[in-house]
Amino acid sequence: MLRTHTCGELRKTHVGQVVTLCGWVDTYRDHSGVLFVDLRDRYGKTQVVFAPEGGSQNLELAKSLRSEFVILVTGKVAPRPEGTVNPKMETGEIEVRAEELAILNRSLTPPFQPTAKELPGEDLRLKHRYIDLRRPAMQRTLILRHRMIQIMRDYFDRLGFLDVETPMLGRSTPEGARDYLVPSRIQQGSYYALPQSPQLYKQILMVAGFDRYVQIARCFRDEDLRADRQPEFTQLDLEMSFVGADDVMGVIDGLMARMAKEILGLELTLPLPRMTYDEAMERFGHDAPDLRFGMELVDLTDLAKASEFKIFRATADAGGRVRGLNAKAAADRYSRKGIDELTAFIMEDFAAKGLAWFKVDADGKLASPIAKNFSADLLAQIGGRMAAEPGDLLLIVADKFEVTCKALYALRKRLAAEGKLYEPRQMHFSWVVEFPMFAYDEETGGYAAMHHPFTAPRRQDLPMLSDDPSRCRAQAYDLVVNGSEAGGGTVRIHDQQLQQQVFELLGINQETARERFGFLLDALQFGAPPHGGIALGIDRLVMLFGGLENIRDCIAFPKTQRATDLMTGAPGQVDPRQLQELGIKPVG
Ligand code: AMO
Repeated sequence: MLRTHTCGELRKTHVGQVVTLCGWVDTYRDHSGVLFVDLRDRYGKTQVVFAPEGGSQNLELAKSLRSEFVILVTGKVAPRPEGTVNPKMETGEIEVRAEELAILNRSLTPPFQPTAKELPGEDLRLKHRYIDLRRPAMQRTLILRHRMIQIMRDYFDRLGFLDVETPMLGRSTPEGARDYLVPSRIQQGSYYALPQSPQLYKQILMVAGFDRYVQIARCFRDEDLRADRQPEFTQLDLEMSFVGADDVMGVIDGLMARMAKEILGLELTLPLPRMTYDEAMERFGHDAPDLRFGMELVDLTDLAKASEFKIFRATADAGGRVRGLNAKAAADRYSRKGIDELTAFIMEDFAAKGLAWFKVDADGKLASPIAKNFSADLLAQIGGRMAAEPGDLLLIVADKFEVTCKALYALRKRLAAEGKLYEPRQMHFSWVVEFPMFAYDEETGGYAAMHHPFTAPRRQDLPMLSDDPSRCRAQAYDLVVNGSEAGGGTVRIHDQQLQQQVFELLGINQETARERFGFLLDALQFGAPPHGGIALGIDRLVMLFGGLENIRDCIAFPKTQRATDLMTGAPGQVDPRQLQELGIKPVG
């Protein structure tokens, strides 16, 4: 080893020792002929002092140091002179008085300083990711990620799960996104698909008797990117035999409790709270509700029917819904203009037709330009149902159920952020269960799998598969953390006939099913045990545990919103010969 200690290690107890440190020049300051260098590595920073007493040759060389030079320094650990101790720095009580200096490598002027207070633009950070990853915040996140993965590995090992790798080059799996395809050279015109998840392989592993499988699995999905989505991401993927939904959730409950404790110092109460999908949509308008704060949605459809307010009445009479929420004590925060902005927000982004509102005045009366359309009694009933108190702002949307869900969910989220209804480091874990089996797709006029086509219906809902599939609920569960879907899983179908029936409902005819999933259908006929599992998004979990806003900050080498890697330039051009070998001719 070139060094005796790291840059985060030295304390008062080391005073008097001769040490050797290696690292990057973070900052350098010349104080009347004495040079102070903050030397940085992954572990921290140490102040190194080059003074004439340390040798004039060293001092001269030290004067040539610039930001991000890589150096080796040998010197004696000394207490910092009184008044210069820096309590904010872990090594702030000492400094190293340099006796020897070697420049291990020089650096061009970096495009930005890793420890600068101001963050440079993201494109610059991604292009020079090696500099960006030197930033302490990035290093902390990747260390956090490592620790979380270590806990996962240990947790599952203790529970007897086996880590089994599954192929990257496989067949298309139906997780609902577009595939990344890899052309085959040997069989021109044929393509592998990168896995959207190891779903089918893990089910096959259960048929093969492995009983408990786990994998930190890379997944690839060519879909529109958002702040919490990457084209290439990592799942904690697992599958268990002879289990029901409760067993799988129980295993994840235990993992979350351990991670919350070890990473955040939080004691979770188990089992984690659960609510059904229907309840989540009713109370929060979304299947991944943020439960760090209240502001639940309130149904007013019956009252709307009795009102003279046309839009309310017409919507209610036409089978739509009138629902609202109470933004507590927010009446003063939202002026007419502020409410106009909220209205435009839900109309433009969520297809709502408008936003009705009431402010609750000092004596508890609901005031609004539309108040005249409601009898005093009706206003009192609306206020009562919404638990209105002076100073509250009541916001109401009348529309189709789905539109009220989307608009009010978005409003609730926005109002909570603007009103600071939760602490930045607050965490809430819960389950949403019993999702519908199918989502009706208006475009195709058919059903799509809400999770994936291998999901088992609840036993009591089996008859609905033929009677009314839209009412059929699945043995499905999503882990929700702070209003984000952190994971999702299901109990699977292990019966070949039932699987066939579900495929048919999804419009996958026998021939296609054979073609795409023949191996699974076959496997189900060779002693498939009942099984179920789940996958958690590791990148998302790191984001949530690290209190980060963007998934790119949790991944060492992420892609941009346009799915490019600004450092390597991927995706890039290839040699025409490579295409020729693959039998590919670009169009245009
Ligand atoms: P699902 O598609 O719900 O389930 O994915 C599981 C979890 O993976 C994370 N995730 C993503 N993270 C980052 N970028 C993305 N593009 C992305 N897509 C998904 C989410 C999500 O909850 N095979 C099933 C699991 C199972 O049934 O066992 C599956 O993949 O956190």
